[in-house]
Amino acid sequence: MSDIISGLDARMVLDSRGNPTVEVDCYVDGGLLGRAMVPSGASTGAYEAIELRDGDASRWLGKGVDDAVNNVVESIQEALVGMPVDDQKAIDEIMIELDGTPNKANLGANAMLGVSMACLHAGAALHELPLWRYVGGVAGGLMPVPMLNILNGGAHAASNVDIQEFMVMPHGFDTFPEALRAGVECYHALKKELKADGLLGGVGDEGGFAPNLPANEAGLGYMVRAIEGAGYSTEEIGIALDVASTEFYKDDAYHMDGKAISGEELSDIYAGWVDEYPLLSIEDGFAEDDWRSWSHCMRDIGDRVQLVGDDLFVTQTERLSMGIESKAANAILVKVNQVGTVTETLETMDLASAHGMNSVVSHRSGETEDTTIADLAVGTRAGQIKTGAPARSDRVAKYNQLLRISNEVSEYRSPF
Ligand code: PGA
Ligand code: ZN
Repeated sequence: MSDIISGLDARMVLDSRGNPTVEVDCYVDGGLLGRAMVPSGASTGAYEAIELRDGDASRWLGKGVDDAVNNVVESIQEALVGMPVDDQKAIDEIMIELDGTPNKANLGANAMLGVSMACLHAGAALHELPLWRYVGGVAGGLMPVPMLNILNGGAHAASNVDIQEFMVMPHGFDTFPEALRAGVECYHALKKELKADGLLGGVGDEGGFAPNLPANEAGLGYMVRAIEGAGYSTEEIGIALDVASTEFYKDDAYHMDGKAISGEELSDIYAGWVDEYPLLSIEDGFAEDDWRSWSHCMRDIGDRVQLVGDDLFVTQTERLSMGIESKAANAILVKVNQVGTVTETLETMDLASAHGMNSVVSHRSGETEDTTIADLAVGTRAGQIKTGAPARSDRVAKYNQLLRISNEVSEYRSPF
C-alpha cells in the first residue's frame, strides 16, 4: 500500500451543543484511513486561532461551517494530495503556509485541525499502530490523572456560580482505572449531596451538575462532601478549579460573588482556599492579559499549587514564551483547536516540558464523539487530562477510550 494522501473529504456534523462543526476524512491510496471531528469552545480566549463560521444568521444562527468544509475539499485537498500521510510536520506546515495568516483566519483553524487530526489517524492506521503509540513512539505511553468536572458554572451553566469548573482529581491511586472509578463515585456522591440540599437541577455543558450556590466557595465545600461522601479522603482525591476569570474581568476588576475585586485580592482568596481545601490546581485564575496578577500569584503560592494557563497561553509557543519569561504560571492547558494543528500542539507541549511546566490535555465545552485527545494525552505523556464529567457521551467517550488504552498501558504516575 502506498503511503500517499489520495484525497480528503469533509462535512458538517453536530457538536454536543447542537452547533455545526467540521468532520474530515483522510484517504490513503484510495482507502479511508483517518477521520476526525473538531471541538469548539464557549469561553474562548481572545488569542485563539480563528474558528471559521459562515456568519449567515438565517442558517445555524450564523454558526454554519460550509466555508471551512469547502476549504478542506478545495484548497487544502489540492495542496496535500500526493503527500506522505505520515509526514505530519510537512502536512501541517503546508497548511500553515497556504493559510498565510498568523491566526488561521483564512482557511479556519477548524478546517486545518480537522485535516491535521484526520491525517494523524490515517498515519497511525497506515503503520497499524494505536494512535497513542503512533504519537508517542518508543517512549511508550503514560496514563494521565483524570480531572473530572463534576460541578459546572460560569459560561457553561445557567447558574449564579462564577467559577466555571469544579473538578475532582483522584491522584492517590495506583492505576488509571482505579482513579477513574474514584472520580466517578464522587460524581454520584455529589448528586446525592446536592439532592439532600434541594439543589439538584440540570447539568452544564460538560455534564457536571449546575446548582445555584450562596457563594463560589460553597462549591469547594460540596467537592469535599462529594469526596468524603464517596468514602475517600482528601489525601487521595484533590480539587482542581477552572476559574475562567477572563469571563468576569471587566474595567480592571474581577466581578465575583457580586463584588468587584483586584487581582491581588483574588490572589489572596486563592491562597486562603489552598490553606483550607485540598486544592491542587487553579486554571485561568486571572484574565488573559493580566500578566501582573499571574506573576504575583505565582510568587505567592506557585510552590504550593498548580497554576494553569488556558486563555493566557492558548496552546501557542509565542504566548507560552511570554509566560515563561514573566514566570506567570507553572502549567499549561493544551487544547488542539486553540492553535489548529497537531504539530504546533506538540511543539507547545515540548516548550512547556523543557521549562519544567506541567501539561494538561483538555477537551472543549463543545465536543463530539471524537477521542483523539485521549490518545494524545497518553502518547505525549502529559500526565493530566480534563475531559468533563463522567456523563454525556461526548465526555464519556474520552474516558472510555482511556480505559481501552489502559489495557495496553499500565504506567501511571501522579504529578502531585
Ligand atoms: P471552553 O471551556 O471550551 O468553553 O473554552 C473549557 C475551558 O475553559 O477550559
Ligand atoms: Zn479553561
